[in-house]
Amino acid sequence: MVARARLNVDSPGFGVYVHWPFCLSKCPYCDFNSHVRHAAIDEARFARAFASEIAHSAPRLPGRMVSSIFFGGGTPSLMAPQTTGAILDAIAQQWSIAPDVEVTLEANPTSVEATRFRGFRTAGVNRVSLGVQSLDDAALAQLGRLHSAREALDAVAIARAAFERFSFDLIYARPDQTPQGWRVELDRALEENSEHLSLYQLTIEADTPFATLHAAGKLRVPDPDTARALFDLTQEITAAQGLPAYEVSNHARPGAECRHNLIYWRCGEYVGVGPGAHGRLSIDGARFATATEKQPERWLERVERHGHALIVEEALSREEQGDELLLMGLRLAEGIDPERFAATAGRSLDADRIADLCAQDLLEIDGSGRLRVTPAGFPLLDAVVADLAA
Ligand SMILES: C[S@@+](CC[C@H](N)C(=O)[O-])C[C@H]1O[C@@H](n2cnc3c(N)ncnc32)[C@H](O)[C@@H]1O
Ligand code: SF4
Repeated sequence: MVARARLNVDSPGFGVYVHWPFCLSKCPYCDFNSHVRHAAIDEARFARAFASEIAHSAPRLPGRMVSSIFFGGGTPSLMAPQTTGAILDAIAQQWSIAPDVEVTLEANPTSVEATRFRGFRTAGVNRVSLGVQSLDDAALAQLGRLHSAREALDAVAIARAAFERFSFDLIYARPDQTPQGWRVELDRALEENSEHLSLYQLTIEADTPFATLHAAGKLRVPDPDTARALFDLTQEITAAQGLPAYEVSNHARPGAECRHNLIYWRCGEYVGVGPGAHGRLSIDGARFATATEKQPERWLERVERHGHALIVEEALSREEQGDELLLMGLRLAEGIDPERFAATAGRSLDADRIADLCAQDLLEIDGSGRLRVTPAGFPLLDAVVADLAA
């Protein structure tokens, strides 16, 4: 049994993010770096390139112990388990691995992918995050998904048997969705007794087919009042079932939080490998933001030529780091430590603004002095962050 994530705010750990950029089809709402290829992917060649990027980063990040590894996408469950295993071996060759390392893989719940779950477990994955999206077949069709609700639930059962930990994603605030319909769906999802759920409100992303339909008036998302009612209902139902939100869209039983994502939200250190992967590295007292080439084939060629495909590597100013701390940390129910903000940004937060936001019940200061967004503040999170950062 893998140890539960320890919540150590000051030392969130060191993570490795691995981006697998391929999908079977492109969902009409999605703007992630995901690509459909009709020819077979040369996975051995990709695995060698991942190993090269890992080997390139390692000498710059000596002495780290990897506390989490996350295979994200795209659809990493389309990878052969041997490819996942080869990438995990490449990571273990460069850094020591924490005995209770969390190794997550994002999976789509089609029956084909579920047949590989045991192979992923054997390769070293111990947590799976399933993109269920909905438990309603009509909604799944509208979202352009390739699986039915039955198939998704079957994949959940296989995941439960194969992995120590699993989570699944649902998208709500979908076109024509009512609070009553969402309640039924969410109650059904909670019956699966997952320790972790990611519940995302549908976002209309620019340059997607959904954005085109939305602009043409052919796709109507819930109005702001209904969206707010759906959000409030989500908080109420999940909290009552013991999975309160620990982040705006993420719910877990206490101790079952996604350790990898906590590294992002607590502004820890992580290296990103693969097409379009982002990283945050601490080198010689400076904090660097990194990003690699997004397009998969160009990424591959670049890595084969140079040993890596980093195209961005910039030192963040103290002000930028402070902004990031607000942007990421205030997403969390635990909030941020104002003293960490001051030490990072080189300036304190404005006491008048804090008092004002507290008076509006959008922000609160807890017993240990941490600043937290209130339940009433979460739907207005962007505005709260912008106000504090100004
Ligand atoms: C990039 S996907 C990767 C996982 C996997 N490919 C899948 O689709 O199941 C990660 C999650 O982001 C969420 N997501 C992607 N686009 C979204 C959007 N426009 N609005 C809300 N959630 C979205 C989905 O819930 C999805 O499971
Ligand atoms: S939602 Fe997932 S499966 Fe769909 S295109 Fe995006 S990454 Fe691929």
